[in-house]
Parts: sequence; structure tokens; C-alpha cells
Amino acid sequence: MIPTTPIERVPATPTGVVADWLVAGVWEGEKPPTDLDAATGSLLSWLTTAGDLTGKPLELVPLLKPAGLTAQRLMLVGLGKRADATRLRFHEAGAAAARAITGKPVATLAAAAPGHGGGLSDADALHAFAVGITQGFVGPGLRKATPTRHAPNHFVLALPADCGFNPTPVVARVAAEARGLWLARELVNSPPSELFPESFAAVAAEHATAVGVEAEIWDESRLEAERMGALLAVARGSDKPPRLVILRYAGNPGGPTLALVGKGVTFDSGGLSLKATDQMVDMKCDMAGAAAVVGGVCAAAELKLPVNLLGVLALVENMPSGKAMKLGDVLTTRLGKTIEVLNTDAEGRLILADALAFAAEQKPAAMVDFATLTGACMIALGPHVSGLMTNNDPWGDRVLAAAGRAGERAWKLPMDAHYDDMIRSKVADMRNTGGSRYGGAITAAKLLQQFVGDVPWAHLDIAGPAWSEGESAAADAGGTGCMVRTIVELARGGVS
Ligand code: BES
Ligand code: MN
Ligand code: ZN
Repeated sequence: MIPTTPIERVPATPTGVVADWLVAGVWEGEKPPTDLDAATGSLLSWLTTAGDLTGKPLELVPLLKPAGLTAQRLMLVGLGKRADATRLRFHEAGAAAARAITGKPVATLAAAAPGHGGGLSDADALHAFAVGITQGFVGPGLRKATPTRHAPNHFVLALPADCGFNPTPVVARVAAEARGLWLARELVNSPPSELFPESFAAVAAEHATAVGVEAEIWDESRLEAERMGALLAVARGSDKPPRLVILRYAGNPGGPTLALVGKGVTFDSGGLSLKATDQMVDMKCDMAGAAAVVGGVCAAAELKLPVNLLGVLALVENMPSGKAMKLGDVLTTRLGKTIEVLNTDAEGRLILADALAFAAEQKPAAMVDFATLTGACMIALGPHVSGLMTNNDPWGDRVLAAAGRAGERAWKLPMDAHYDDMIRSKVADMRNTGGSRYGGAITAAKLLQQFVGDVPWAHLDIAGPAWSEGESAAADAGGTGCMVRTIVELARGGVS
């Protein structure tokens, strides 16, 4: 269930806001918030002196029925040292507080502005803190008979008239990003027998059209007519037909377009190169790239950002069957280039080959793809960092900078001509695996590069950060909504 919580500003002070819970941040090594301390008769100072309130990152101190406040309960969350503050830190603090609160039904949850920190303004800090809070409203328990989490009926930002910035754009951005993240996470968390290419396409189109994004869906016969041979070959093993969704948002008519392409394998069994249970168990997450594109484009459209976006979702299910593609098969892609299939589990690059070729034909000014593409990227960078590979360093650096502003971690991997030999095939133009395990994230990107022409392009391998096996204080298990915030930052930066 995607929360329907309205997100609004109320022109109240933290001490005067009417709410069931108020969430406020506390800095490590500083006095607790003066207004809350004064209103509560120096209770916060007392707790600080007693060592119960330190402001260490993610420390949670709940106060029930604190005298002197109009809020019924106060959740104090540690922000760490002010100088170390980042968007990620504010986001995590907000999320940790909300996760602790939403185990029970809540009518109104309020947030106080945490104030600036690190290089962030008051407005940016509140934005990150509030988006984090919204992400604590839902967990992966979509289908529990008795819900274990409860999105509040109202979420309000307590911002008095003298808060120091214009609250309207901040609140709009919190709401749009919250909904984009909720949508992406819900899509990733949905069971794969319910969310398959056709149903994914329908959900994407419904959410897109609701915010003024045009959605076109190509079915199997259209994909045949469009010569998308590699995408169709992956889909052939499944009883579920593939779909390609094209999202068009025109916020800058006549201007340049940014193309966003997402891997949408709604379930990756590996195909005939079948995965073992341990590797297959979470493979409903293999559409997280496509989910990020839907969530990000919808958020940008809701914000009416002055940019043109082309979203392309490549949706297939990768299954073994009598009709499945085989090892040794040679596929003819939309561009006419041929690919020898040596492992049917390297399917993401096959569907993206055709989707990227189509996107490049639309002549975008720049392109980014998002894909849970390789386990090798997780070996290289660990589970929390995305790999970025690019054919154009200035564009790749702009994408890295956008991810940085979004508080999402990404790191550049090389993909110069030295790696070209690793995807050479004896029988076709290229092969779909590198032959050895070495540089597996890069050989995958090398194949993609053959399909983007000379469009400035960046590839984000999100195999690690898109999915969280377990929960932490600040994040739930399951889909993370990875890259939704980066897409909003990219759209805000525009293309030229
Ligand atoms: N969807 C997987 C990659 C993946 C692994 C995503 C773990 C999330 C978590 C992809 O389709 C895949 O199977 N890649 C293979 C490629 C190999 C066969 C060349 C891999 O990484 O093992
Ligand atoms: Mn695979
Ligand atoms: Zn896959």
C-alpha cells in the first residue's frame, strides 16, 4: 500500500504545533534545541547533563506527554556533529525517527526544521530530514494480515513565518520525492507473480498520466515490428509477454531532452543458466532500475521542472522453458548488431541493448540508464554504492555530482578501450559475458556502450543499493527507492 498521507506546512512553532508526535533533531556536542528546552522547563538540558541525550547519529529519545508542549509526544533524534552533516545524514535521522513511531497508528506527525549543517542550508536540511521521515512510514510488509506499520493520517512541517526560507517549494519537493520513493519501493517490493511486464506497464502508465506524463506501451507485436530482437529473446522463455513503456514529460517544449532508461526484469530466474535458490530468492528486485525511472519522472513532473524527460522501461521476465533462448544462440538487436548468448543470466544487458538503441534514436542531449545489472559491481564496491560507467567523462561527472547532491552513493569505474577485447565473440559482433569473472560490471557496461551511439551516456549499476536484505535503524528491508532522488536532482540540473 502506497501511503496517501497529505504533506503540508503548518505555520506553527515546534513548541506550539498540535500533533501526536513531533520529531526534532539534536546535534552532538551542542546544547539541545533552545525553544523545546525552554518550553519543557529545561528537561532537555537535564537529559543532556545526565548523558541520556547525546545527539549521536540516529540516537532516539522518545518523551511521552512532555509538559509545556502542545505535541503529545516528542521524538528526539541524533543528527551527529553539525560539521559532518550531509543530506544522507538528515535523511537517515528522519527515517529512523519515523520508523520508531509508525509501529502504531498515528493521526498527526509533525517535524521541526533541524537547522543547517555541513554545507546544507536550513531549507535543504529540512527537505532531507522530511523526505527521510516519509520513508519511515512504510516497510516491506505489504501483505501482513495485521499491519506492522502505519502511515500517519497527516504529516506536517512546523514552520513559523520567521523560519528563514520560503516553505512552499520545500514542501512541494518533499511531497513529490516522498511519493516517487514510495512508488518505486512498492513496485520493487511487490510479489513477482503480481508485478510482471504487463501489470508493471499498467501501474507505470496510471501513475505517469496522473501527473501529466504521456505514457505509451508497446506490446509483443509492436516490439517485433520494431525489431527489438534481444529484448524479445529474453522474454521468450516466459509465459508473460514483454512490454516497453515510453514516458514523455515535456517541461521545456522545444528544448533538449534527458533520456532515462530502466532495466525492468520483473523476475530473474537466470533462464536456462538457472540461478540457485540463494541467488534467486530476491530477484523480484531486478526491475528496480525501471521503478526508479517511473518514480523519478513522476516526481519531476509533479514538480513541473523545466526539463524534457524521456523514460524508457524495458520490461521482461527471465524464465527457463522449452521456448527459452539457449546458450550459443545469436540474437539480432534493433541496431542489427548481433550478440552471442553464452549465459542466459546476463539478460539485463540484452534488453537494455534494444532499449538504449531506441532511446538514442530519439536524439536526447544525454542519457542515463539504471540497472541491477551485475553481482560483480557489488563485489567491486560493496552493497551500498552504485557503479557509474560512462562514454563521456563530463556527463558522467555531472551524474555523479547529482547523485552526491541527492545523498546517494556512486563511484566511477573505468571502461576505456582496454576492456573492448573482453566481449569479443568468434561468431557474432559481441558476446554477452566477459568470459571470466574479472571486471564483470565493466564488461556488462561495454556491451551497453555498443548501443548508445555518440550520445553522452552514463550507466548506473544499482545491483547493490536497490535492495536491502535486512533492516537497519534508518532503513527497512526490501526495495530502497535507490536513484529516485538522483533523477530529481538530474532533472533539476537540466540538460544542455
Ligand atoms: N540481475 C542480476 C544481477 C544482480 C545480482 C542484481 C545480485 C542484484 C543482486 C543479473 O541479471 C545477473 O544475473 N548477472 C550475472 C551476470 C553474469 C552471468 C555474467 C551476475 O552478476 O552474476
Ligand atoms: Mn540475470
Ligand atoms: Zn538480472
